[in-house]
Amino acid sequence: MREAEKTYFITTYGCQMNEHDSERLAGLLEAEGYARASKPADASVVLFNTCCIRENADNKLYGNLGHMKAIKDVRPDMKLVVGGCLAQKDKSAIQKRAPWVDVVLGTHNLASLPRLLEESKVSPAFEILEQTEVFPSALPSRRNSPWHAWVSISIGCNNSCTFCIVPAVRGREVSRRLGDIVSEVEQLVDDGVVEVTLLGQNVNSYGRDLDGTPMFAKLLRALDRVDGLERVRFTSPHPKDFRSDTIAAMADCEVVCEHIHLPVQAGSDMVLKRMKRAYTRGKYLEKVALVRKAIPDVSISTDIIVGFPGETESEFAETLTLMEEARYDSAYTFQYSSRPMTEAAEMDGHLPKKVVQERFERLIRLQDDISLERNLRHVGTTQEVIVEGASKRDSTRLSGRTRHNKLVHFPSDGAGDGSFRTVLITSAHSHYLEGELVDGRSESPRVRQRVSLPLLSAAAAHDGARC
Ligand code: SAH
Ligand code: SF4
Ligand code: F3S
Repeated sequence: MREAEKTYFITTYGCQMNEHDSERLAGLLEAEGYARASKPADASVVLFNTCCIRENADNKLYGNLGHMKAIKDVRPDMKLVVGGCLAQKDKSAIQKRAPWVDVVLGTHNLASLPRLLEESKVSPAFEILEQTEVFPSALPSRRNSPWHAWVSISIGCNNSCTFCIVPAVRGREVSRRLGDIVSEVEQLVDDGVVEVTLLGQNVNSYGRDLDGTPMFAKLLRALDRVDGLERVRFTSPHPKDFRSDTIAAMADCEVVCEHIHLPVQAGSDMVLKRMKRAYTRGKYLEKVALVRKAIPDVSISTDIIVGFPGETESEFAETLTLMEEARYDSAYTFQYSSRPMTEAAEMDGHLPKKVVQERFERLIRLQDDISLERNLRHVGTTQEVIVEGASKRDSTRLSGRTRHNKLVHFPSDGAGDGSFRTVLITSAHSHYLEGELVDGRSESPRVRQRVSLPLLSAAAAHDGARC
């Protein structure tokens, strides 16, 4: 193949880990001389990086592979690659259901992509490993954003939530060395990145496999000292491991945004037990109260599953009351989806679709009202916003995100993506805010008021770190 013909197109499903893996896969291809194509039909390598968290993700992939067959019939030299969690789950089934696929690779061997593409010139190449070969962040990356970066701090998950397929497809938890993470972030800042999102299935247990003790708080404090870094976000902390030293670090470190995603899943102790989440509603709400005390005005978002096997109407009602008590800024709500290789799939009491749908709609209605109330608190305040691009609905306006992770639309002054602006919030809706530019560029985005509680400062001192 001539160099000029080497182009690729990647479609990514699923979570931020997959988005980051796709950046690594793109980096590997670019290191081999491939250029990014603008659409699959033009690309010599078309890659689907898949997810299998819910059943509709599976269906989507097989639908897309069907469409690709028509393109491959016209251009047989095009290489079709399937990677990611669904590939890890379905293994050889992908080649059985879609024999026109050239390469299948799993979640543990991203680095093998160039070799497998080479091998596929002779015959279809298929490789799924049970363990990670190379920590993904050691691979080259082609970032999608010049100003934001995903940074992987751990891979895999040692929990056993009964609904979740992730441990089966992502393996045991492996943490990355703290020094390697800090060096990567320093390098990213040198490259112009101002915001990083730390990624792990359970960021709070970060480091337990390295030092025998969680080191997430220490990591936040180390990142607070990186010159030029403006914002740190992370996803997701598991409530059972969310400790006061992390809350203290969040409160103390200027770089850490005033937002936390704290997935609750359900409001009933009985359901939480059947889910094996290892916390009660009461313990969870205590942690919410601690964060709110340490970081007044913090934004909290969550994940909720409706219709877990055996969920009764009164158990569901407890999820509604928990939502009312926790007063989330936003919630990602999911209808339970039975997954192979999970304990819940074998449980009794799978609910009819109609019941789950009706509960799901009630949940969304309640959260929309609470989100609106939470957003209204920002009206009349000025917020530091990082510009994310032109508004999708109106090109005369820009869209950006506040430190609280709120989407804001405001009149454009031509600012480029990644610029800081100060915006006066003039109106609120359930899913976004609107505002006016105050004084153009915000000069000192990291200057903020902070509150340091005695209890939390003691935890910080114990950690031996300075912010
Ligand atoms: N590691 C993260 C979750 C990753 S999966 C954590 O523990 O927070 C993202 C979300 O998908 C979960 O929080 C859960 O709400 C949802 N999810 C996972 N498995 C699901 C299933 N079988 N059906 C419906 N939603 C599911
Ligand atoms: Fe899945 Fe639970 Fe691990 Fe999250 S913590 S990835 S929900 S098993
Ligand atoms: Fe993420 Fe989906 Fe895999 S949510 S870890 S891409 S199963």
